[in-house]
Amino acid sequence: MSVEAVPANPFAQDVERPLPEPTTLVIFGATGDLAARKLLPAIYNLGLRGLLPDRIDVIGIGRRTGDREAFRRQAREAIADHSRTGIEADAWEALEPKLDFLNGDFDDPKLFESLKALIREKDGHGSSQRVFYLAVSSSSFGPIAEALAEAGLGAGAEPPTRLMIEKPFGHDLASALELSAEISSAFDESQVFRIDHYLGKETVQNLQVLRFANGILEPVWNRRYVEHVQITMAEDLGIGHRVGYYDSAGALRDVIQNHLMQLLSLVGMEAPVRFDADTIRDEKVKLLRSVRRYEPSEVCDYVVRGQYGAGWIGGEEVPSYLDEEGVPDASLTDTYVAMRVEVDNWRWAGTPFYLRSGKRLPRRVTEIAVRFRPVPHLPLARAEIGDAQPNEMVLSVQPDEGVSLRLVAKVPGQTMSVRPVLMEFQYGTTFLGDSPEAYERLLHDALLGDATLFTRADEVETEWKIIDPILEAWRSAPAPAIYEAGSQGPGTADELLGIRGRAWRQI
Ligand code: BG6
Repeated sequence: MSVEAVPANPFAQDVERPLPEPTTLVIFGATGDLAARKLLPAIYNLGLRGLLPDRIDVIGIGRRTGDREAFRRQAREAIADHSRTGIEADAWEALEPKLDFLNGDFDDPKLFESLKALIREKDGHGSSQRVFYLAVSSSSFGPIAEALAEAGLGAGAEPPTRLMIEKPFGHDLASALELSAEISSAFDESQVFRIDHYLGKETVQNLQVLRFANGILEPVWNRRYVEHVQITMAEDLGIGHRVGYYDSAGALRDVIQNHLMQLLSLVGMEAPVRFDADTIRDEKVKLLRSVRRYEPSEVCDYVVRGQYGAGWIGGEEVPSYLDEEGVPDASLTDTYVAMRVEVDNWRWAGTPFYLRSGKRLPRRVTEIAVRFRPVPHLPLARAEIGDAQPNEMVLSVQPDEGVSLRLVAKVPGQTMSVRPVLMEFQYGTTFLGDSPEAYERLLHDALLGDATLFTRADEVETEWKIIDPILEAWRSAPAPAIYEAGSQGPGTADELLGIRGRAWRQI
Protein backbone atom coordinates (compact mmCIF):
# COMPACT_ATOMS: atom_id res chain seq x y z
CA MET A 1 0.00 0.00 0.00
CA SER A 2 1.22 3.50 -0.52
CA VAL A 3 0.88 4.41 3.14
CA GLU A 4 4.26 4.04 4.83
CA ALA A 5 4.00 3.07 8.46
CA VAL A 6 5.76 5.41 10.83
CA PRO A 7 7.30 3.16 13.46
CA ALA A 8 6.55 4.76 16.81
CA ASN A 9 8.69 2.22 18.52
CA PRO A 10 12.50 2.35 18.27
CA PHE A 11 12.65 -1.42 18.86
CA ALA A 12 10.57 -1.95 15.73
CA GLN A 13 12.84 0.08 13.48
CA ASP A 14 15.34 -2.60 12.61
CA VAL A 15 12.87 -5.43 12.54
CA GLU A 16 12.60 -6.90 9.09
CA ARG A 17 9.17 -6.32 7.55
CA PRO A 18 8.76 -8.76 4.67
CA LEU A 19 6.23 -7.83 2.02
CA PRO A 20 3.96 -10.50 0.57
CA GLU A 21 3.62 -11.00 -3.19
CA PRO A 22 0.77 -9.18 -4.95
CA THR A 23 -2.37 -10.94 -3.76
CA THR A 24 -6.04 -11.45 -4.37
CA LEU A 25 -7.61 -12.15 -0.99
CA VAL A 26 -11.14 -13.57 -1.01
CA ILE A 27 -13.10 -13.58 2.24
CA PHE A 28 -16.11 -15.89 2.43
CA GLY A 29 -18.34 -14.56 5.22
CA ALA A 30 -17.11 -10.99 4.75
CA THR A 31 -20.29 -9.52 6.23
CA GLY A 32 -20.15 -11.68 9.35
CA ASP A 33 -19.04 -11.02 12.87
CA LEU A 34 -15.49 -12.37 12.58
CA ALA A 35 -14.77 -10.25 9.50
CA ALA A 36 -16.07 -7.15 11.27
CA ARG A 37 -14.31 -7.70 14.59
CA LYS A 38 -11.03 -9.25 13.45
CA LEU A 39 -10.31 -9.64 9.73
CA LEU A 40 -11.11 -6.21 8.32
CA PRO A 41 -9.34 -4.43 11.22
CA ALA A 42 -6.36 -6.75 10.72
CA ILE A 43 -6.17 -5.97 7.00
CA TYR A 44 -6.42 -2.27 7.77
CA ASN A 45 -3.68 -2.38 10.42
CA LEU A 46 -1.37 -4.40 8.18
CA GLY A 47 -1.81 -1.64 5.60
CA LEU A 48 -1.13 1.00 8.22
CA ARG A 49 2.07 -0.80 9.27
CA GLY A 50 3.23 -1.05 5.65
CA LEU A 51 2.92 -4.83 5.62
CA LEU A 52 0.50 -5.33 2.76
CA PRO A 53 1.72 -5.81 -0.78
CA ASP A 54 1.38 -2.73 -2.98
CA ARG A 55 -1.01 -4.63 -5.12
CA ILE A 56 -3.73 -6.33 -3.14
CA ASP A 57 -7.37 -6.88 -3.99
CA VAL A 58 -9.80 -7.94 -1.29
CA ILE A 59 -13.01 -9.57 -2.48
CA GLY A 60 -15.65 -9.96 0.21
CA ILE A 61 -18.36 -12.53 -0.29
CA GLY A 62 -21.49 -12.51 1.82
CA ARG A 63 -25.22 -12.82 1.83
CA ARG A 64 -26.21 -9.84 3.89
CA THR A 65 -24.81 -6.84 2.06
CA GLY A 66 -26.02 -5.63 -1.31
CA ASP A 67 -23.09 -4.29 -3.28
CA ARG A 68 -19.55 -3.00 -3.26
CA GLU A 69 -20.45 0.43 -1.95
CA ALA A 70 -22.47 -1.02 0.92
CA PHE A 71 -19.60 -3.38 1.75
CA ARG A 72 -17.10 -0.55 1.81
CA ARG A 73 -19.33 1.46 4.14
CA GLN A 74 -19.74 -1.55 6.39
CA ALA A 75 -15.99 -2.23 6.35
CA ARG A 76 -15.25 1.37 7.33
CA GLU A 77 -17.62 1.13 10.27
CA ALA A 78 -16.19 -2.20 11.37
CA ILE A 79 -12.64 -0.83 11.28
CA ALA A 80 -13.62 2.33 13.15
CA ASP A 81 -15.31 0.21 15.83
CA HIS A 82 -12.78 -2.57 16.21
CA SER A 83 -9.32 -1.55 14.97
CA ARG A 84 -6.80 -1.36 17.84
CA THR A 85 -5.48 1.89 16.36
CA GLY A 86 -8.80 3.46 15.40
CA ILE A 87 -9.09 4.58 11.77
CA GLU A 88 -7.03 7.23 9.97
CA ALA A 89 -8.28 8.95 6.84
CA ASP A 90 -5.14 8.33 4.72
CA ALA A 91 -4.86 4.66 5.53
CA TRP A 92 -8.57 4.10 4.94
CA GLU A 93 -8.46 5.95 1.62
CA ALA A 94 -5.59 3.72 0.53
CA LEU A 95 -7.51 0.57 1.45
CA GLU A 96 -11.02 1.47 0.31
CA PRO A 97 -10.52 1.16 -3.46
CA LYS A 98 -9.01 -2.31 -2.96
CA LEU A 99 -12.25 -3.65 -1.49
CA ASP A 100 -14.71 -5.37 -3.78
CA PHE A 101 -17.78 -7.45 -3.07
CA LEU A 102 -19.82 -10.34 -4.40
CA ASN A 103 -23.25 -11.09 -3.04
CA GLY A 104 -24.30 -14.72 -3.12
CA ASP A 105 -25.08 -18.06 -1.55
CA PHE A 106 -22.13 -20.36 -0.92
CA ASP A 107 -24.07 -23.31 -2.34
CA ASP A 108 -24.92 -21.54 -5.57
CA PRO A 109 -22.59 -22.64 -8.41
CA LYS A 110 -23.20 -19.29 -10.16
CA LEU A 111 -21.40 -17.55 -7.30
CA PHE A 112 -18.23 -19.45 -8.12
CA GLU A 113 -18.52 -18.59 -11.80
CA SER A 114 -18.81 -14.90 -10.94
CA LEU A 115 -15.94 -15.23 -8.48
CA LYS A 116 -13.74 -16.83 -11.09
CA ALA A 117 -14.49 -14.01 -13.53
CA LEU A 118 -13.79 -11.36 -10.90
CA ILE A 119 -10.54 -13.05 -9.88
CA ARG A 120 -9.43 -13.09 -13.53
CA GLU A 121 -10.16 -9.39 -13.72
CA LYS A 122 -8.06 -8.83 -10.58
CA ASP A 123 -5.27 -10.98 -12.03
CA GLY A 124 -4.92 -8.16 -14.54
CA HIS A 125 -3.58 -6.10 -11.60
CA GLY A 126 -0.59 -8.43 -11.47
CA SER A 127 -1.73 -10.70 -8.64
CA SER A 128 0.68 -13.58 -8.20
CA GLN A 129 -1.19 -15.49 -5.49
CA ARG A 130 -4.70 -16.08 -4.25
CA VAL A 131 -5.79 -16.60 -0.69
CA PHE A 132 -9.28 -17.81 0.22
CA TYR A 133 -10.36 -17.16 3.80
CA LEU A 134 -13.33 -19.17 5.06
CA ALA A 135 -14.89 -17.11 7.86
CA VAL A 136 -18.10 -19.11 7.66
CA SER A 137 -19.87 -21.81 9.62
CA SER A 138 -17.91 -25.06 9.60
CA SER A 139 -20.65 -26.89 7.67
CA SER A 140 -19.69 -24.73 4.65
CA PHE A 141 -15.92 -25.49 4.76
CA GLY A 142 -16.07 -28.70 2.72
CA PRO A 143 -18.62 -27.53 0.12
CA ILE A 144 -16.77 -24.23 -0.48
CA ALA A 145 -13.40 -25.99 -0.81
CA GLU A 146 -14.94 -28.43 -3.31
CA ALA A 147 -16.68 -25.68 -5.28
CA LEU A 148 -13.41 -23.74 -5.49
CA ALA A 149 -11.63 -26.82 -6.82
CA GLU A 150 -14.38 -27.42 -9.38
CA ALA A 151 -13.96 -23.85 -10.55
CA GLY A 152 -10.27 -24.60 -11.11
CA LEU A 153 -9.21 -22.54 -8.09
CA GLY A 154 -8.00 -25.39 -5.86
CA ALA A 155 -4.99 -27.76 -5.90
CA GLY A 156 -2.69 -27.17 -8.85
CA ALA A 157 -4.25 -23.78 -9.72
CA GLU A 158 -2.06 -21.06 -11.14
CA PRO A 159 -1.14 -18.62 -9.67
CA PRO A 160 -0.61 -20.44 -6.34
CA THR A 161 -3.54 -20.62 -3.99
CA ARG A 162 -4.02 -20.97 -0.25
CA LEU A 163 -7.04 -21.81 1.87
CA MET A 164 -7.42 -20.34 5.35
CA ILE A 165 -9.92 -22.07 7.61
CA GLU A 166 -11.36 -20.88 10.88
CA LYS A 167 -12.23 -23.20 13.69
CA PRO A 168 -14.08 -25.37 14.61
CA PHE A 169 -12.40 -28.06 12.56
CA GLY A 170 -15.00 -30.78 13.13
CA HIS A 171 -16.96 -31.50 16.29
CA ASP A 172 -15.24 -34.82 17.05
CA LEU A 173 -12.57 -37.04 15.51
CA ALA A 174 -14.89 -38.65 12.95
CA SER A 175 -16.19 -35.32 11.63
CA ALA A 176 -12.66 -33.84 11.59
CA LEU A 177 -11.46 -36.79 9.50
CA GLU A 178 -14.41 -36.39 7.16
CA LEU A 179 -13.69 -32.69 6.78
CA SER A 180 -9.99 -33.39 6.16
CA ALA A 181 -11.00 -35.83 3.42
CA GLU A 182 -13.28 -33.27 1.77
CA ILE A 183 -10.65 -30.57 1.92
CA SER A 184 -7.81 -32.77 0.75
CA SER A 185 -9.85 -33.77 -2.30
CA ALA A 186 -9.78 -30.09 -3.28
CA PHE A 187 -6.51 -28.67 -1.84
CA ASP A 188 -3.12 -30.05 -0.99
CA GLU A 189 -2.24 -30.03 2.76
CA SER A 190 0.56 -27.55 2.04
CA GLN A 191 -2.07 -25.08 0.81
CA VAL A 192 -4.30 -25.36 3.90
CA PHE A 193 -3.81 -22.86 6.73
CA ARG A 194 -5.95 -23.81 9.75
CA ILE A 195 -6.28 -20.94 12.18
CA ASP A 196 -5.89 -21.26 15.91
CA HIS A 197 -5.69 -17.58 16.73
CA TYR A 198 -3.87 -18.26 20.03
CA LEU A 199 -0.78 -19.11 18.00
CA GLY A 200 -0.74 -15.54 16.68
CA LYS A 201 -0.54 -14.01 20.17
CA GLU A 202 2.83 -12.48 20.99
CA THR A 203 3.38 -14.23 24.31
CA VAL A 204 2.48 -17.56 22.80
CA GLN A 205 5.16 -17.05 20.16
CA ASN A 206 7.53 -15.82 22.82
CA LEU A 207 7.08 -19.09 24.65
CA GLN A 208 9.28 -20.78 22.09
CA VAL A 209 11.91 -18.08 22.16
CA LEU A 210 11.91 -18.10 25.94
CA ARG A 211 12.27 -21.87 26.08
CA PHE A 212 14.70 -22.41 23.25
CA ALA A 213 16.85 -19.30 23.17
CA ASN A 214 17.61 -19.15 26.91
CA GLY A 215 20.00 -21.82 28.08
CA ILE A 216 19.06 -21.61 31.75
CA LEU A 217 15.55 -22.93 31.31
CA GLU A 218 16.11 -26.21 29.50
CA PRO A 219 17.89 -28.00 32.38
CA VAL A 220 14.95 -27.34 34.73
CA TRP A 221 12.11 -27.75 32.23
CA ASN A 222 11.19 -31.31 33.11
CA ARG A 223 9.68 -33.68 35.67
CA ARG A 224 12.69 -33.43 37.95
CA TYR A 225 12.24 -29.70 38.65
CA VAL A 226 8.67 -28.90 37.61
CA GLU A 227 6.08 -29.95 40.15
CA HIS A 228 3.07 -29.15 37.96
CA VAL A 229 1.89 -26.72 35.27
CA GLN A 230 -1.39 -24.76 35.22
CA ILE A 231 -2.78 -23.36 32.00
CA THR A 232 -5.73 -21.03 32.50
CA MET A 233 -7.91 -19.26 29.99
CA ALA A 234 -10.61 -17.40 31.89
CA GLU A 235 -13.21 -15.02 30.55
CA ASP A 236 -15.59 -12.74 32.38
CA LEU A 237 -17.94 -12.54 29.41
CA GLY A 238 -20.79 -14.96 28.84
CA ILE A 239 -21.72 -16.40 25.46
CA GLY A 240 -22.94 -13.15 23.92
CA HIS A 241 -24.96 -13.71 20.77
CA ARG A 242 -23.37 -17.02 19.90
CA VAL A 243 -25.90 -19.39 21.46
CA GLY A 244 -26.48 -21.24 18.20
CA TYR A 245 -22.83 -22.24 17.95
CA TYR A 246 -21.91 -22.37 21.61
CA ASP A 247 -24.72 -24.53 22.91
CA SER A 248 -23.74 -27.36 20.59
CA ALA A 249 -19.99 -26.82 21.16
CA GLY A 250 -19.36 -26.07 24.85
CA ALA A 251 -16.04 -25.08 26.38
CA LEU A 252 -14.37 -28.44 25.73
CA ARG A 253 -14.80 -28.18 21.96
CA ASP A 254 -14.68 -24.37 21.81
CA VAL A 255 -11.32 -23.79 23.47
CA ILE A 256 -9.81 -26.86 25.20
CA GLN A 257 -9.58 -28.94 22.01
CA ASN A 258 -7.70 -26.16 20.26
CA HIS A 259 -6.30 -23.15 22.17
CA LEU A 260 -5.42 -24.97 25.39
CA MET A 261 -4.08 -28.07 23.62
CA GLN A 262 -1.88 -25.78 21.54
CA LEU A 263 -0.54 -24.03 24.64
CA LEU A 264 0.05 -27.42 26.25
CA SER A 265 1.99 -28.65 23.23
CA LEU A 266 4.18 -25.53 23.14
CA VAL A 267 5.00 -25.73 26.85
CA GLY A 268 5.74 -29.44 26.74
CA MET A 269 7.32 -30.10 23.32
CA GLU A 270 10.97 -30.98 22.72
CA ALA A 271 13.30 -28.43 21.17
CA PRO A 272 12.83 -28.24 17.39
CA VAL A 273 15.94 -28.40 15.24
CA ARG A 274 14.78 -25.33 13.32
CA PHE A 275 11.99 -22.79 13.67
CA ASP A 276 10.21 -23.90 10.53
CA ALA A 277 6.64 -24.99 9.96
CA ASP A 278 7.00 -28.74 9.73
CA THR A 279 9.78 -29.16 12.26
CA ILE A 280 7.81 -27.30 14.92
CA ARG A 281 4.56 -29.02 14.10
CA ASP A 282 6.26 -32.44 14.17
CA GLU A 283 7.38 -31.72 17.75
CA LYS A 284 3.96 -30.48 18.79
CA VAL A 285 2.25 -33.57 17.40
CA LYS A 286 4.77 -35.77 19.22
CA LEU A 287 3.85 -34.10 22.51
CA LEU A 288 0.12 -34.38 21.83
CA ARG A 289 0.58 -38.07 21.07
CA SER A 290 2.12 -38.56 24.51
CA VAL A 291 -0.93 -37.12 26.25
CA ARG A 292 -2.67 -39.95 28.07
CA ARG A 293 -6.07 -40.73 26.60
CA TYR A 294 -8.53 -41.51 29.33
CA GLU A 295 -11.03 -44.32 29.17
CA PRO A 296 -14.57 -42.91 29.29
CA SER A 297 -14.98 -44.69 32.65
CA GLU A 298 -12.06 -42.72 34.20
CA VAL A 299 -12.98 -39.32 32.77
CA CYS A 300 -14.83 -38.27 35.95
CA ASP A 301 -11.54 -38.59 37.90
CA TYR A 302 -9.65 -36.26 35.55
CA VAL A 303 -12.12 -33.81 34.04
CA VAL A 304 -14.66 -31.46 35.63
CA ARG A 305 -17.37 -29.76 33.63
CA GLY A 306 -19.32 -26.81 34.87
CA GLN A 307 -22.01 -24.43 33.76
CA TYR A 308 -22.45 -20.90 35.08
CA GLY A 309 -25.37 -19.98 37.24
CA ALA A 310 -26.51 -16.44 37.91
CA GLY A 311 -24.16 -14.13 39.78
CA TRP A 312 -22.33 -10.81 39.84
CA ILE A 313 -19.42 -9.70 37.68
CA GLY A 314 -17.79 -6.29 37.99
CA GLY A 315 -20.72 -5.04 40.07
CA GLU A 316 -23.28 -6.16 37.52
CA GLU A 317 -25.82 -8.89 37.97
CA VAL A 318 -25.66 -11.49 35.19
CA PRO A 319 -28.07 -14.30 34.31
CA SER A 320 -27.33 -18.00 34.43
CA TYR A 321 -26.37 -19.81 31.24
CA LEU A 322 -29.81 -21.42 31.13
CA ASP A 323 -31.40 -17.96 31.27
CA GLU A 324 -29.36 -16.58 28.38
CA GLU A 325 -31.55 -15.84 25.39
CA GLY A 326 -31.96 -18.85 23.12
CA VAL A 327 -30.39 -21.48 25.40
CA PRO A 328 -32.56 -24.63 25.48
CA ASP A 329 -34.25 -25.21 28.87
CA ALA A 330 -32.39 -28.30 29.96
CA SER A 331 -29.08 -27.61 28.23
CA LEU A 332 -26.14 -29.57 29.69
CA THR A 333 -23.56 -27.54 27.78
CA ASP A 334 -20.25 -26.99 29.54
CA THR A 335 -19.21 -23.36 29.96
CA TYR A 336 -16.29 -24.41 32.18
CA VAL A 337 -13.84 -27.28 31.96
CA ALA A 338 -10.94 -28.17 34.24
CA MET A 339 -8.80 -31.12 33.34
CA ARG A 340 -5.76 -32.94 34.62
CA VAL A 341 -3.49 -33.99 31.78
CA GLU A 342 -0.79 -36.63 32.14
CA VAL A 343 1.99 -36.53 29.58
CA ASP A 344 3.48 -39.99 29.31
CA ASN A 345 7.02 -39.36 28.13
CA TRP A 346 10.49 -39.15 29.68
CA ARG A 347 10.41 -35.43 30.15
CA TRP A 348 7.05 -35.12 31.89
CA ALA A 349 5.98 -38.46 33.40
CA GLY A 350 4.57 -37.71 36.86
CA THR A 351 4.30 -33.94 36.35
CA PRO A 352 0.63 -33.13 35.77
CA PHE A 353 -0.58 -30.31 33.55
CA TYR A 354 -3.83 -28.72 34.69
CA LEU A 355 -5.93 -26.99 32.07
CA ARG A 356 -8.99 -24.89 32.81
CA SER A 357 -11.17 -22.52 30.92
CA GLY A 358 -14.51 -20.96 31.60
CA LYS A 359 -16.93 -18.17 30.85
CA ARG A 360 -18.29 -15.82 33.50
CA LEU A 361 -15.25 -16.17 35.74
CA PRO A 362 -14.13 -13.09 37.67
CA ARG A 363 -11.86 -11.61 34.97
CA ARG A 364 -10.30 -12.17 31.58
CA VAL A 365 -6.91 -13.76 31.96
CA THR A 366 -4.86 -16.31 30.03
CA GLU A 367 -1.65 -17.55 31.60
CA ILE A 368 0.70 -20.48 31.90
CA ALA A 369 2.08 -21.05 35.37
CA VAL A 370 5.02 -23.41 35.80
CA ARG A 371 5.34 -24.37 39.46
CA PHE A 372 8.80 -25.66 40.41
CA ARG A 373 9.48 -28.20 43.12
CA PRO A 374 10.36 -26.85 46.56
CA VAL A 375 13.98 -26.87 47.69
CA PRO A 376 14.86 -30.17 49.39
CA HIS A 377 15.79 -28.48 52.65
CA LEU A 378 15.24 -24.92 53.83
CA PRO A 379 17.98 -23.99 56.28
CA LEU A 380 15.78 -21.60 58.24
CA ALA A 381 14.00 -21.82 61.52
CA ARG A 382 10.25 -22.45 61.26
CA ALA A 383 9.42 -18.89 62.37
CA GLU A 384 11.72 -17.45 59.72
CA ILE A 385 10.31 -19.43 56.82
CA GLY A 386 7.23 -17.21 56.77
CA ASP A 387 5.69 -17.23 53.35
CA ALA A 388 8.51 -19.02 51.49
CA GLN A 389 6.86 -20.58 48.46
CA PRO A 390 8.39 -22.64 45.67
CA ASN A 391 9.53 -20.79 42.55
CA GLU A 392 6.91 -20.21 39.90
CA MET A 393 7.27 -18.87 36.39
CA VAL A 394 4.13 -17.27 34.95
CA LEU A 395 3.78 -16.52 31.28
CA SER A 396 0.98 -14.07 31.00
CA VAL A 397 -0.66 -14.23 27.57
CA GLN A 398 -3.32 -11.61 28.26
CA PRO A 399 -4.34 -9.02 29.21
CA ASP A 400 -0.86 -7.91 30.41
CA GLU A 401 1.64 -9.73 28.25
CA GLY A 402 4.77 -10.66 30.12
CA VAL A 403 6.75 -13.16 32.12
CA SER A 404 7.34 -13.22 35.85
CA LEU A 405 9.44 -15.43 38.08
CA ARG A 406 8.64 -15.78 41.74
CA LEU A 407 11.70 -15.99 43.96
CA VAL A 408 12.08 -16.01 47.72
CA ALA A 409 13.97 -13.03 49.19
CA LYS A 410 14.99 -11.80 52.59
CA VAL A 411 13.00 -8.93 54.02
CA PRO A 412 15.50 -6.15 54.87
CA GLY A 413 16.17 -5.94 58.59
CA GLN A 414 17.87 -7.57 61.51
CA THR A 415 16.01 -10.86 61.37
CA MET A 416 16.12 -13.60 58.78
CA SER A 417 12.60 -13.24 57.60
CA VAL A 418 11.69 -14.22 54.03
CA ARG A 419 8.90 -13.53 51.57
CA PRO A 420 8.12 -14.09 47.87
CA VAL A 421 9.14 -11.40 45.35
CA LEU A 422 8.60 -11.15 41.59
CA MET A 423 11.14 -10.66 38.83
CA GLU A 424 9.13 -9.32 35.93
CA PHE A 425 9.38 -8.60 32.25
CA GLN A 426 6.43 -6.82 30.66
CA TYR A 427 6.05 -6.57 26.94
CA GLY A 428 4.43 -3.13 26.96
CA THR A 429 7.11 -1.57 29.14
CA THR A 430 10.15 -3.24 27.60
CA PHE A 431 9.17 -2.90 23.96
CA LEU A 432 7.26 0.36 24.30
CA GLY A 433 4.01 -0.31 22.61
CA ASP A 434 1.07 -2.47 21.72
CA SER A 435 1.57 -5.90 20.29
CA PRO A 436 -0.14 -6.51 16.97
CA GLU A 437 -3.40 -8.44 17.07
CA ALA A 438 -3.10 -12.19 16.52
CA TYR A 439 -5.08 -11.92 13.28
CA GLU A 440 -2.61 -9.41 11.85
CA ARG A 441 0.26 -11.79 12.39
CA LEU A 442 -1.63 -14.81 11.07
CA LEU A 443 -2.99 -13.10 7.98
CA HIS A 444 0.42 -11.69 7.15
CA ASP A 445 2.08 -15.10 7.62
CA ALA A 446 -0.50 -16.75 5.36
CA LEU A 447 0.11 -14.10 2.68
CA LEU A 448 3.82 -14.91 2.95
CA GLY A 449 3.09 -18.65 2.79
CA ASP A 450 4.58 -19.35 6.23
CA ALA A 451 2.54 -22.10 7.92
CA THR A 452 4.47 -22.25 11.21
CA LEU A 453 1.66 -20.71 13.26
CA PHE A 454 -1.10 -22.77 11.68
CA THR A 455 -2.29 -26.20 12.77
CA ARG A 456 -1.69 -29.21 10.57
CA ALA A 457 -4.35 -31.89 9.98
CA ASP A 458 -2.55 -34.47 12.14
CA GLU A 459 -2.34 -32.00 15.05
CA VAL A 460 -6.07 -31.33 14.95
CA GLU A 461 -6.81 -35.03 14.72
CA THR A 462 -4.57 -35.87 17.66
CA GLU A 463 -6.30 -33.17 19.70
CA TRP A 464 -9.65 -34.78 18.94
CA LYS A 465 -8.32 -38.18 20.01
CA ILE A 466 -7.75 -36.72 23.47
CA ILE A 467 -11.15 -35.03 23.57
CA ASP A 468 -13.38 -37.78 22.12
CA PRO A 469 -13.43 -40.10 25.19
CA ILE A 470 -14.43 -37.13 27.34
CA LEU A 471 -17.33 -36.32 25.05
CA GLU A 472 -18.32 -39.96 25.12
CA ALA A 473 -18.21 -40.11 28.93
CA TRP A 474 -20.30 -36.95 29.24
CA ARG A 475 -23.10 -38.39 27.14
CA SER A 476 -24.04 -40.63 30.06
CA ALA A 477 -22.61 -38.61 32.97
CA PRO A 478 -24.54 -36.48 35.46
CA ALA A 479 -25.26 -32.83 34.61
CA PRO A 480 -22.44 -30.25 34.82
CA ALA A 481 -21.68 -28.66 38.19
CA ILE A 482 -23.28 -25.23 38.46
CA TYR A 483 -20.91 -22.44 39.53
CA GLU A 484 -21.88 -18.93 40.44
CA ALA A 485 -21.01 -16.35 37.79
CA GLY A 486 -18.07 -14.31 39.08
CA SER A 487 -16.76 -17.18 41.23
CA GLN A 488 -13.60 -19.25 40.66
CA GLY A 489 -15.61 -22.06 38.99
CA PRO A 490 -16.96 -25.30 40.43
CA GLY A 491 -15.42 -26.36 43.74
CA THR A 492 -15.04 -29.90 42.40
CA ALA A 493 -12.16 -28.66 40.23
CA ASP A 494 -10.04 -28.58 43.43
CA GLU A 495 -10.31 -32.35 43.68
CA LEU A 496 -8.36 -32.74 40.42
CA LEU A 497 -5.28 -31.26 42.03
CA GLY A 498 -4.60 -34.37 44.05
CA ILE A 499 -1.94 -33.77 46.62
CA ARG A 500 -1.84 -31.28 49.49
CA GLY A 501 -0.15 -28.00 48.76
CA ARG A 502 -1.41 -27.70 45.18
CA ALA A 503 -4.00 -25.03 44.61
CA TRP A 504 -5.45 -23.31 41.58
CA ARG A 505 -4.10 -19.85 41.06
CA GLN A 506 -6.59 -17.15 41.87
CA ILE A 507 -8.35 -15.83 38.76
C1 BG6 B 1 -12.57 -18.17 20.55
C2 BG6 B 1 -13.72 -18.83 21.26
O1 BG6 B 1 -11.83 -19.12 19.83
O2 BG6 B 1 -11.72 -17.55 21.52
C3 BG6 B 1 -14.47 -17.84 22.12
O3 BG6 B 1 -14.61 -19.38 20.29
C4 BG6 B 1 -13.53 -17.12 23.04
O4 BG6 B 1 -15.50 -18.49 22.87
C5 BG6 B 1 -12.36 -16.54 22.25
O5 BG6 B 1 -14.25 -16.07 23.67
C6 BG6 B 1 -11.34 -15.90 23.17
O6 BG6 B 1 -10.34 -15.32 22.40
P1 BG6 B 1 -9.39 -14.20 23.03
O7 BG6 B 1 -8.40 -13.91 21.97
O8 BG6 B 1 -10.28 -13.06 23.38
O9 BG6 B 1 -8.80 -14.83 24.26
